[in-house]
Amino acid sequence: MKKRIEELRSEFHKRLEEISDKRALNDLRVAYLGKKGEVSALLKGMKDLSNEAKKEAGAIINTLKKDVESAIKSYFITLEQEELYERLQKEWYDITWPEKTSVGSIHLLETAMRNLERLFTSMGFDVLNGPEMEDEEYNFTLLNIPDDHPARDTQDTFWLSNGKLLRTHTSPVQLRGMLEHKPPFKFVAPGRTYRNEAIDATHEHSFHQLEGMVVDKNITVANLIFTLKQIISYIFENDVEVRLRPSYFPFVEPGFEMDFQCQICHGKGCKVCKKTGWVEYLGCGMIHPNVLRNGGIDPDVYSGFAFGGGVERLIMMKYSIDDIRHFTAGDIRFLSQF
Ligand code: DAH
Repeated sequence: MKKRIEELRSEFHKRLEEISDKRALNDLRVAYLGKKGEVSALLKGMKDLSNEAKKEAGAIINTLKKDVESAIKSYFITLEQEELYERLQKEWYDITWPEKTSVGSIHLLETAMRNLERLFTSMGFDVLNGPEMEDEEYNFTLLNIPDDHPARDTQDTFWLSNGKLLRTHTSPVQLRGMLEHKPPFKFVAPGRTYRNEAIDATHEHSFHQLEGMVVDKNITVANLIFTLKQIISYIFENDVEVRLRPSYFPFVEPGFEMDFQCQICHGKGCKVCKKTGWVEYLGCGMIHPNVLRNGGIDPDVYSGFAFGGGVERLIMMKYSIDDIRHFTAGDIRFLSQF
């Protein structure tokens, strides 16, 4: 029996040396000190011994038990310290680091675009997207602006080596929409547009437009005026007067320019509205029969209106922003005001 006990002792120490985590240590504890463990087995094995031998064996087994217990306990503490040390290596943090880091926010242009989308979807419009890299056909030809038309000169843009161009307006989405949907329909197409412009406080090479289009039977200019008034009043959170002036765009007939009452002086006349009380805002009109035909729609059955305008200009007016370049300059002092 003595021999067996010594074997168990040295086996225990050998196994203990191989252990590197608390779970394995616990398994070892159960294997030796548990109900069905080695020490219990030794105690059970004593029943056939003489009284004298029992006494002697009992004492040795007890010593073994105590040794095993204390070895496990102290190794447990060692493992815990190692674990703590490892965590401290990984989980430190610098108490000198500034607590308040600033959180970003949505750009005011993006907010305005999302609000406009919300307005139009609430009026039953769909929101369509079109490519910024556009075909010449969609940007000009199908919009009733043929190759030799002087209207092309007013919208110079960036031509790409693959023969395409960066769209000069969101109007090409009108055709994409017409070719994909059967009337009646109402949609808006917000998005980025480009022009080869000399940049100044009111001109940028990249800006945003919102295009709108409604095609149904019996659509008239009255529907157009109502819709435009909604946009302006929604943006300025106020009931804003609008007016139409005759104008020319090849893709509408009749064509108009819409003005709204200056929101700086409320019609009295100031520097911003050049003392007229009105601010010129967007192009609009009744969709030209040629454009409807190009979109696969019969102009004898359907009519429609369309409009398109710059988004930056509206926001500039709303917040009295004096330079369009602020939008993209990335100056946090400007951006954090909105
Ligand atoms: N696409 C024109 C531009 O960028 C604006 C415009 C005028 C859009 C009349 C329209 C429209 O839909 O009917 O100058």
